[in-house]
Formats: sequence, C-alpha cells, structure tokens
Amino acid sequence: MGIAKRVMPSLSEALPALLGLISLLAALGPASARADEFSEPRRRMVEAQIRARDVRSPLVLSAMEKVPRHLFVPETFRPQAYDDYPLPIGENQTISQPYIVALMTSLLELKGGEKVLEIGTGSGYQAAVLAQIAGEVYSMEILGTLAERARTTLGELGYTNVRVRQGDGYSGWPEEAPFDAIMVTAAPTKVPQPLLDQLKVGGRLVIPVGRYFQDLLVFTRTADGFEKRNVIPVRFVPMTGEVQKSGPGF
Ligand SMILES: C[S@@+](CC[C@H](N)C(=O)[O-])C[C@H]1O[C@@H](n2cnc3c(N)ncnc32)[C@H](O)[C@@H]1O
Repeated sequence: MGIAKRVMPSLSEALPALLGLISLLAALGPASARADEFSEPRRRMVEAQIRARDVRSPLVLSAMEKVPRHLFVPETFRPQAYDDYPLPIGENQTISQPYIVALMTSLLELKGGEKVLEIGTGSGYQAAVLAQIAGEVYSMEILGTLAERARTTLGELGYTNVRVRQGDGYSGWPEEAPFDAIMVTAAPTKVPQPLLDQLKVGGRLVIPVGRYFQDLLVFTRTADGFEKRNVIPVRFVPMTGEVQKSGPGF
C-alpha cells in the first residue's frame, strides 16, 4: 500500500507532534481554565461584583475568572449564571451569589496547596473555586442527587483534586482531618463542634450561623482556643440533619 505509506507518518515521525499536543493539553489544565462563550460575562462579573466590592486576593480573583459557573447551574439558568444573585439548582437548594463565593473563599486566606473541607457541595461550584487554589478539597453534601451530579460535573471538568461524599457534614470528615480550612455553605443555628475539632492550629472555619438571617463568622484556631470574627449578615439555606437535633453551642 504505497499511498498509505506516503500519507500515514510512521510512529517515530509522529511522536514529536504527539508529545507537543500532550504537553499543550497538560498546560491548559482542567476544562475550567479554557476560554468559552461565557469568558467575557465572567470577566465582567469578577470586575463589577467582586473586585469592586473589595475582594482583592489575586488567587481568588483568578479562580473566579476560571471556573465556568454556567456549567454548574441548570441549563435554563445559564444566561443568568454570571448575574449578581443566587440561582436554584434543584431540590430546593441554591448556588450562592458569586460575590459571597468569592468573599467566603478569601476569608479562608488560602495561599495554595492546602487541604480544605467544604460542607454543602450543592452544585459543586464552590468546591471548584476552592480546588483552583487548594491542594485537596473534600466536600460533603447531604442530598444524594446533588452529591452525584456535582461529582459528575467536577469530573467532566477535570477536577482531580476534589472528593465529594454524600452524608451529613455535621460530623465533618474525620478520616481526612485535620484541615487547613473549613467552609460551611448551609446555615446551622450553632457551630458543629466536630468541625472546630477538625481544624488545624492557625486554620480558619468560615460559616453562616443563625436562623432566617445569619451572621457570617470566621473562627481561627489558636494554640489555646478560637478567635471569632463576625463579617457580614448573610442568608443561606438551613443546614439540615444532626445539627437540628443537637444541644447548644457557639
Ligand atoms: C447554598 S447550598 C450550597 C451551594 C454550594 N456550595 C454550591 O457551590 O453550589 C447548601 C447546600 O448544603 C447542603 N446541606 C444542608 N445541610 C447539610 C449537611 N448537614 N451536610 C451536608 N450538606 C448539607 C444542601 O443540601 C445544599 O446543597
């Protein structure tokens, strides 16, 4: 097959081009880092909703500019994915407003490479933002359908450093503790003690606490206890499960 021989390069001829293609794909990273038809609305979201409200961490701004939020919301809401409000994700749950995602991420003060726990996976969007900065993200979701969908979305986008577990986040993820940082994206009426226990010294827990309206609190673990800071009033869906049965706490 003379013609085939001339048209088809041998393996050794094709190898340099193949290696080039592989390193190009590796450099592009997860699908999240690539340009898409929503790149411009996403850039505007970062400028007008986040940087303008004084979230200045370059790591957070860059993560928010990379993660394709439109792929974490139901298809009918994609045109609104970069607008300044939360959106429904099914099961009576929501994906938080972009500014709140950025603010909570910045409050963890991540530098890169950390081990982070998130309680309330929802769509998986916040986990993806965390995964752009942290080394490993462990995310727990009480509702099986949402946990499964988030796992699929994150997998399709190439996030290999996020693990999603279905279960009640009240008890945290003891097998993987301690964590450098913990974020809770559903509101308990008191702080679950196991989450405080699973924090490293110097680590931060960011959590909305309250009933209908909540305070966004930051707990920093010190050598001999916790420092507590109240950041802003917020409104999250309630944390369900064990925390609704347990006794008083913070
Ligand atoms: C505001 S949504 C989270 C948004 C999510 N972080 C995102 O990026 O889409 C809150 C989520 O917390 C979940 N949740 C509520 N109580 C929980 C619990 N005890 N443990 C784990 N997840 C819980 C809800 O099912 C819901 O999906």
